[in-house]
Amino acid sequence: MHTVYNFALGLLAAAAVATASDVEQLKKDNFEEYVKANDIVLAEFFAPWCGHCKALAPEYEEAATSLKEKDIKLVKVDCTEESDLCQQFGVEGYPTLKVFRGLDNVSPYKGQRKAAAITSYMIKQSLPSVSLLTSETLEDFKKADKVVVVAYIDATDKASNETFGKVADKLRDTFPFGASNDAALAEVEGVKVPAIVVYKEFDEGKTVFTDKFDVEAIEKFTKIAATPLIGEVGPETYADYMAAGIPLAYIFAETAEERKELSDAIKPIAEAQRGVINFATIDAKAFGGHAPNLNLKADKFPAFAIQETVKNQKFPYDQDKEITHDSIKAFVDDFVSGAVEPSIKSEPIPETQEGPVTVIVAKNYNDIVLDEAKDVLVEFYAPWCGHCKALAPKYEELAGLYAKSEFKDQVVIAKVDATANDVPDEIQGFPTIKLYPAGAKDKAVTYSGSRTIEDLIKFIAENGKYKASVVEETAEEEVSAAEAATEAPTETAEEAAKETDEHDEL
Ligand SMILES: *[C@@H]1O[C@H](CO)[C@@H](O)[C@H](O)[C@H]1NC(C)=O
Repeated sequence: MHTVYNFALGLLAAAAVATASDVEQLKKDNFEEYVKANDIVLAEFFAPWCGHCKALAPEYEEAATSLKEKDIKLVKVDCTEESDLCQQFGVEGYPTLKVFRGLDNVSPYKGQRKAAAITSYMIKQSLPSVSLLTSETLEDFKKADKVVVVAYIDATDKASNETFGKVADKLRDTFPFGASNDAALAEVEGVKVPAIVVYKEFDEGKTVFTDKFDVEAIEKFTKIAATPLIGEVGPETYADYMAAGIPLAYIFAETAEERKELSDAIKPIAEAQRGVINFATIDAKAFGGHAPNLNLKADKFPAFAIQETVKNQKFPYDQDKEITHDSIKAFVDDFVSGAVEPSIKSEPIPETQEGPVTVIVAKNYNDIVLDEAKDVLVEFYAPWCGHCKALAPKYEELAGLYAKSEFKDQVVIAKVDATANDVPDEIQGFPTIKLYPAGAKDKAVTYSGSRTIEDLIKFIAENGKYKASVVEETAEEEVSAAEAATEAPTETAEEAAKETDEHDEL
């Protein structure tokens, strides 16, 4: 008996070693003390039932281990056990990640939920927004990240110092910033003060800025210099490309060799369009599912398309044509001069509207949504989105209530499959619900409340021109604590892909 017991204990100990974690789980009674004792702490507020939290867990563990030697701590708080603590820090959905520099300086984590991204983000957070560099520290600093930004300034040049500091404060989440006032060092680096050098692991290795120091000019220069001439679109880079403010040209190909070959052919075009259009390859094997979003067929590669990221317009290049330097140059030149029309994807206009919910497609979008006489509520959904499916019966019921009411000619409850139809709105997650009030179509209001019929009615009554309120027939259903706590989550294609493993989208 005794032996068996000891043997079991031994197993338990082994299990404990195997699962040893560098992520400490904190509680109300030790959280504040812990945060005060450490310069910088990343805290994850989670709930055990939350799917996105489970997906994050191994990435978070990995990041914690790699950040251990830098003394950057990663902790977690179970909000189902520590609701007071979570409330104190304004946690509204799961997971919520916050960076703590003591208890007074708390900022949201704005990076991706991947180990490498968390690690790199936290390293940047742990540095002062501008590190003062010397000839001893410069070389190490250059290696701190794929891209680093260094200013060479005269010690008496307060204005340049201040301007650079402003840029660094703004972009500190994206790049490490350094500065030196060592004139000899500037000379070694081949620049005359004041100057800024962006050092990078790719392309030509560094790019120099010698114009007049101006916040906007430096910001623009840095962003362009930090973007590879021909980069790669993937889950880690996609958001940055979409936020870059300039169009993105995609080169879809299935093999690495083919991507290299096409990149080499297209490189001179990318060079000529630097700062005007970003160019990037995309692995068509892994992310071919993204092709239809650009109105390309998903079964014919290589392929090329330009996306205007601000207006969200798509310019697919004819997939029956060959991709060569000359053909793409002609296409890109036409795009730049405005000679290429955007392609608009639409399902056919429904012949009759079957149910109480009006079905919108790209081709009837303006007629229905922009009808100045009507308050139009639009649900932007995706067929694969679970939250949308959960909403569907309630949305039908809501539409039914309005259809039967005195407001039937004034309020339209509508939905659009935003994956099959190009809509002018930038849709971040599904479902997105917006009200386009009669007579004020430019003042659309996005719904952020809980997805209950009662709250949706309230929203329409409060934000629509007709203050149209109807009475819900059934008793208010009970919202479980779990549902209430998730704060009407939305899904992105990427998240859905992670959950269902059916999609490989960005
Ligand atoms: C910029 O100004 C700060 C604050 O005065 C100073 O500590 C820093 O050394 C200056 N940077 C350079 C590169 O001279």
